[in-house]
Amino acid sequence: MQNRQWRLSRRPEPDEVISPQNFDFVTAPTETPKDGQVLVRTLVLGTSPAQRGYVSTTRSMHEKLPVGAVMRGRGVGVVVESRHAAFKPGDIMTASLGWQDYAVITPTTETLSILNISKVANPVRPLSLHLGLLGGAGATAYFGLLDVGQAKAGDTVVISAAAGGVGALAGQVAKRMGCRVIGICGSAAKCDWITRDLKFDAAINYKTENVDARLTELCPKGLNVFFDNVGGDILNTTLDHLANRARVVICGYISTDYATGPQVGPANYKNLLRNRSRMEGFYIFDYVPRWHEAEDKLRSWFEAGAIDPVEDIDHGLENMPDTLASLFKGTNRGVKLNRVAPDP
Ligand SMILES: NC(=O)c1ccc[n+]([C@@H]2O[C@H](COP(=O)([O-])OP(=O)(O)OC[C@H]3O[C@@H](n4cnc5c(N)ncnc54)[C@H](OP(=O)(O)O)[C@@H]3O)[C@@H](O)[C@H]2O)c1
Repeated sequence: MQNRQWRLSRRPEPDEVISPQNFDFVTAPTETPKDGQVLVRTLVLGTSPAQRGYVSTTRSMHEKLPVGAVMRGRGVGVVVESRHAAFKPGDIMTASLGWQDYAVITPTTETLSILNISKVANPVRPLSLHLGLLGGAGATAYFGLLDVGQAKAGDTVVISAAAGGVGALAGQVAKRMGCRVIGICGSAAKCDWITRDLKFDAAINYKTENVDARLTELCPKGLNVFFDNVGGDILNTTLDHLANRARVVICGYISTDYATGPQVGPANYKNLLRNRSRMEGFYIFDYVPRWHEAEDKLRSWFEAGAIDPVEDIDHGLENMPDTLASLFKGTNRGVKLNRVAPDP
């Protein structure tokens, strides 16, 4: 079998949006699994802003992908051949399959884990849900909001990148918990979508509106939780609108991903002291032991029709670099995925 692959050919410059020009699209023979390995057909690939860190020249917390290697990326796939006792053909699994049609995976005691290599015991269809609502995006939204942010009924919750994957799910979780939810995002169409379809209480278009003035208007008593996906100016402005004992959740900082000069800290951090508030980062890998809490809850809401999985799906492995680039261009709406092959 032939295996189409995207291999890193050139690292993007610090201010360059990732594009097909950073990769070679090649066709190679599919590897044969050895003892202890499985061959997996990629069905759907996910995206994450963190993937830019895998290939960029700038410092990041992620291991760098060598030039020439298949681009790293999480996916859901079906086992087509197994030489591992715990897997059989037809099993559905999530793993770092990479940007390719077929991947040879080596499950071991060390690598078998929900955020590494994992058999999906009870698959929900479409299987893409295991990368979004029931995968990393859903768990990040759930634990970030409820565990780190301690959001509770009656709280005013503000979310940045509110029409992105994590943001749109976090907003819906906050609504289910009885919070008042305000989303910050980058277009009028996204503002309409999160208020009309996802039932956010209000939206701010940071590209055309004065975020500071709008937060003053919408949060006269201050906000209780800020779920931040973007960092930079939006974080700094929002720190001026904290209620007493507010919780600022540092989930991500996509706005600073292209920053070339020295990074300046948020000058308004002094309000954390004035308002006896807390700002805390978290990493979803730390929640693996509690994963089922988020998955069970999100799955029950999904089955009851109480949460929209907000999937935004491109089709075709050949489009994968553009699929990832949409996160940085702001053209995605919800969890950005690429459908490589139909669900079996
Ligand atoms: N802590 C963790 O363990 C963890 C786990 C997963 C993800 N994350 C983080 O969670 C965040 C959301 O991830 P996601 O996968 O759901 O991506 P996402 O929110 O869908 O990311 C893309 C969105 O970010 C916004 N954006 C892009 N550039 C921006 C800029 N310069 N300023 C402001 N907004 C910008 C765009 O929306 P607009 O149109 O609104 O600009 C875009 O649609 C990311 O920061 C990611 O790194 C953290």
